[in-house]
Amino acid sequence: MQQILYTRRQAAQLLGIDADELARMEAGPRLRGLMSARAQADVLTATELRAVREALGLVPRSLGGQRRQLFLNFKGGTGKTSISTSYAFRLNEMGYRVLLMDLDSQGHSTKCLGYEGADFDRTLYSTLVDKAPLAECIAHTNTPGLDFIPSNLQMATVDIALMPMPAREFRLAKALRAVESQYDFVVMDAPPSFGLLNLNALIASQDLIIPVLPDFLSFHGLKLLFEALETLEDLEHVLDHVYVVINAYNASFKIAKEAKQALETHYGEYLLKTVIRQCSKFAQASSEGQPIFVFDPDSKGAGDIDAMITEVLSHLGGGRGAAK
Ligand SMILES: Nc1ncnc2c1ncn2[C@@H]1O[C@H](COP(=O)(O)OP(=O)(O)OP(=O)(O)O)[C@@H](O)[C@H]1O
Ligand SMILES: [Mg+2]
Repeated sequence: MQQILYTRRQAAQLLGIDADELARMEAGPRLRGLMSARAQADVLTATELRAVREALGLVPRSLGGQRRQLFLNFKGGTGKTSISTSYAFRLNEMGYRVLLMDLDSQGHSTKCLGYEGADFDRTLYSTLVDKAPLAECIAHTNTPGLDFIPSNLQMATVDIALMPMPAREFRLAKALRAVESQYDFVVMDAPPSFGLLNLNALIASQDLIIPVLPDFLSFHGLKLLFEALETLEDLEHVLDHVYVVINAYNASFKIAKEAKQALETHYGEYLLKTVIRQCSKFAQASSEGQPIFVFDPDSKGAGDIDAMITEVLSHLGGGRGAAK
């Protein structure tokens, strides 16, 4: 991933203070020596932003333990990768320690962070099947507190390889215990299928987030997904939250409005109030290997993901913290 630079206005906004306050604090003892001449004059790197955040005690409110969240829909192309990667990236910008797990052999979320899956020897396959410690599969970005588990074609056969293994549904949950204290969030981007890998991911998760498109095929897919969730009861796993989020919404399409109404009627209790609007910047950002917050932080898509995070965090008791 490229080095990310923040203007002083953006940095102040991410810290939850105004730019004048940041300027005043820079003159004070807590930030002395922390910011390079360039940062003082112009832009901060992600590393400088993190150092300033820690020095000022502007860390986000604790969630009382790690939050593991899975983005899943059996239907392809509903926005799992676009939303999960931007969501993970933004949580990190807010000060959380985040591990993004690419579960899909297409390696799209790896690409969205600017990396090529094929460049990595280890994927989650190494842990789930070959029993490598999870820490050995974790790759670090050059942004502090943002790590990921890459994926490539190696992951294509994970379902088959898991089949004869003992406790085959619980291997991911068990492996994640090793990094429980290292990350505030584990964000998982699932492939559009139902098999042992996704079952592992469901069992390892507390929250399930289901991106849906506002059309009637998605509506049908959602029914299948909720039916499949009943499998979890047999495995004695209870999800804390199930959220459905409408993605790529365009209010000028009648069909989109109708599908939204149908979702409100039938899945109202799961539906997030935040709707992610149609935004071409998602595709442009991913083709550049950049999170949307880097490609165009002022885009509709970036604004909607930020609103979605605020809504989810309000249920979890997290959010932007105050200075200590
Ligand atoms: N809000 C949006 N507005 C416009 N286009 C979007 C939006 N969200 C995602 N897209 C585009 O839709 C396509 C599918 O998105 P994405 O790859 O995130 O879906 P997915 O559910 O991860 O797909 P798969 O099932 O293949 O993993 C991509 O081209 C992406 O750029
Ligand atoms: Mg995807």
